[in-house]
Amino acid sequence: EMAEKQGFPHFMLKEIYEQPNAVREAIYGNAETIARIAEEIANYEKIFIVAMGTSYHAALYAKYLFQRLAKRVPIVEEASEFRYEAEELIDDKTLVIAITQSGETADTLAAIKLAKKKGAKVLSIVNVVGSMATRLSDLVVYTFAGPEIGVAATKTYTTQLTVLAMLITALARHLRTADERYLTQLEEQLTQLPSFIEEVLEYDGELKKLAEELKDRKDFFYIGRGVSVPTALEGALKLKEISYIHAEGLSAGELKHGPLALIEEGVPVVAVAPNGKLLEKMISNIKEVNARKGFIISLGDSDELSKVSDVFLKMPKIDELLSPVVYVVPLQILAYHLAVLRGNDPDKPRNLAKSVTVE
Ligand code: G6P
Repeated sequence: EMAEKQGFPHFMLKEIYEQPNAVREAIYGNAETIARIAEEIANYEKIFIVAMGTSYHAALYAKYLFQRLAKRVPIVEEASEFRYEAEELIDDKTLVIAITQSGETADTLAAIKLAKKKGAKVLSIVNVVGSMATRLSDLVVYTFAGPEIGVAATKTYTTQLTVLAMLITALARHLRTADERYLTQLEEQLTQLPSFIEEVLEYDGELKKLAEELKDRKDFFYIGRGVSVPTALEGALKLKEISYIHAEGLSAGELKHGPLALIEEGVPVVAVAPNGKLLEKMISNIKEVNARKGFIISLGDSDELSKVSDVFLKMPKIDELLSPVVYVVPLQILAYHLAVLRGNDPDKPRNLAKSVTVE
């Protein structure tokens, strides 16, 4: 087992560090097929995206891309809910996109089977080659992340986001629903994702120190807006899964509607705040936390943001729509260090399994 970890103390850390390569493989592995798959799904207007856990956060990310680039309004649902709610809603004009690392999650497989039974077209986004989801689906896009041993998903998440960005960019090109120059710019930035991830891995040492400072806190909040909401949810999920610290991820707009009542002096609030159309709104949400003396850890690329933050991690210049692939990485590292400092094995969190094959 030591040998397989290639010098890393845990599989999770090794897999976090594999992300530049994993994302590169996802890009090259799909380069030649993605336009054809985009074409095959182009005529579907009724779209459901179903998944569980971390893959569900990738599904939420896909929603923003569909809306902003392809002018499609998909319904994103946990597979566990979809399988009991959607029977009457699916027909042969429906596209169901299932996202599953293992291709074996019971609820996701049940959703795929239901979709097939009702005549829908099923596209699966899967990491494990030959898994059940790939055998049940009409179309498959592989994430090519390689085997993931750590129970908490890391490289399979960033590769899911990458292939979704490729797919929906290609779809927008086909449908002519977005400015072509903008799409070209996104395609160029996609190829830079591995080096952007390399850059943020450099924060490892700083995040470890931060984890030492925060390891006894009881609650964490993760906030974002728009396309960064899934990143906030995923950051909170990583923390819960392996550090056993209570964490909540939410859209910053929701703060005032309840969670702000829980913010008091020193409560860590992680703000995912890339430059983009909602940055100003995000900064005013952060100021509400400042006023209650919450401890703001922000990720972004603006001076104004750094001024309202207690800890500021400067992120690479990247389009807001692709930023989730890069911004989630420091959140994985922070959760990892908190777990280790609290004496937990991040590779085998209590009560959790890599793949949930029973309902
Ligand atoms: C389990 C794992 C998670 C994963 C989820 C969905 O809960 O612990 O890391 O996100 O299942 O798994 P899937 O293989 O369908 O993506």
